[in-house]
Amino acid sequence: MSQGFQAPRGIPDYYPPASADFRRVRDTLTDAARRAGYGHIELPVFEDTALFARGVGESTDVVSKEMYTFADRGDRSVTLRPEGTAGVMRAVIQHGLDRGQLPVKLSYAGPFFRYEKPQTGRYRQLQQVGVEAIGVDDPALDAEVIAVADEGYRRLGLSGFRLEITSLGDDESRPRYREALQQFLFGLDLDEPTRQRAQLNPLRVLDDKRPEIKAATADAPLLIDYLSDDARAHFELVLAHLDRLGVPYELNSRLVRGLDYYTKTTFEFVHDGLGAQSGIGGGGRYDGLMRQLGGKQDLSGIGFGLGVDRTMLALEAEGVAGTEAARCQVFGVPLGTAAKAELVGVAGQLRAAGISVDLAYGDRGLKGAMKAADRSGAKIALVLGDREIEQRVVEVKNLTDGVQQQVCIDDVVGQVQRLLG
Ligand code: HAM
Repeated sequence: MSQGFQAPRGIPDYYPPASADFRRVRDTLTDAARRAGYGHIELPVFEDTALFARGVGESTDVVSKEMYTFADRGDRSVTLRPEGTAGVMRAVIQHGLDRGQLPVKLSYAGPFFRYEKPQTGRYRQLQQVGVEAIGVDDPALDAEVIAVADEGYRRLGLSGFRLEITSLGDDESRPRYREALQQFLFGLDLDEPTRQRAQLNPLRVLDDKRPEIKAATADAPLLIDYLSDDARAHFELVLAHLDRLGVPYELNSRLVRGLDYYTKTTFEFVHDGLGAQSGIGGGGRYDGLMRQLGGKQDLSGIGFGLGVDRTMLALEAEGVAGTEAARCQVFGVPLGTAAKAELVGVAGQLRAAGISVDLAYGDRGLKGAMKAADRSGAKIALVLGDREIEQRVVEVKNLTDGVQQQVCIDDVVGQVQRLLG
């Protein structure tokens, strides 16, 4: 292994050719949101630690174990954002976006940070594309958010994923359920940390991956059986809208998300080709978050975060990942110093005309440079030597069919444009 610098553990680099897929995933998922009217929001990468502690929930693993928290030079506690929803809500409140037309529909893309144990599909810097729709509690909006994610994945060519969905109920449903679940959990023979979790956040015990806890909680009461009439009606409408939108789903009444703000509709997209880290995206409604973060209004919200890294792995697992390296349309082959100077200028003119151009740099000679041209995937090679400079011409070679023609140096841009169609 190299003795030089390494990226911090669990922090991926994205470089060609895989970085082309990174951009394709991020841009395709973002486009799906744009087509449904979501405007772009660019958020700070770090914020006040209390924002996440209060927004995401003190008892969650994300807040209690995984945050990158540090004191800045002014001794303020700041945290690298572990997720996007709390920051969006903070921005909406701070800038009074909720006083305009509702819902406020925003989308974002970028890195998030969680100090998790790194493994395939689980990184300490992870990339998400997210949307948040704030201010209207309408089941049709829940269905829209879910359909945007579904559409984004399908446009990428993915098919081996499922949507799991449930309702976590509202303020009326939850205390009744919590009591029933706690009563059940306290009747079990649990170790001390798990018992404490049952006290603090009993729902999270149902997310315990240990086989003995899974077995012990197999018959635990389910929230879906404790929904208030309102929450039940809301959920049934969401499902009916999804049917109308042609988005398939599976009910999973044991679905537990790792963040505390969820209410009512909650969902996860799961890919079966990924092993343990199978969640390629997830989200839900968070009707109490604005109040929790000190907003004057108490507006509802719904959104998702889609994992770009895991979506890339899913594309690979399905064999639909792209293999295209960055390509240029034109490749310049200068033979000698004067030709290099001339082609540098031509390359500039072509790029200004919107054509992508690469050049053979260094002194490769004709053979090496033509090999580089072939390997570049370019459609056209421009070959220039001293003889051509004297005659003010360029050899324009179509690399697809091998046909070569001499073109006056001043007409190269037009001729290349014609050849590229
Ligand atoms: P989340 O489920 O914590 O939700 O993250 C969303 C997605 O990010 C996951 O489904 C997964 O694909 C990806 N992800 C999470 N952690 C990692 C990791 N360590 N390595 C690689 N990928 C990861 C949220 O973050 C919520 N803010 C989503 C949301 C928006 N809910 C409502 N609005």
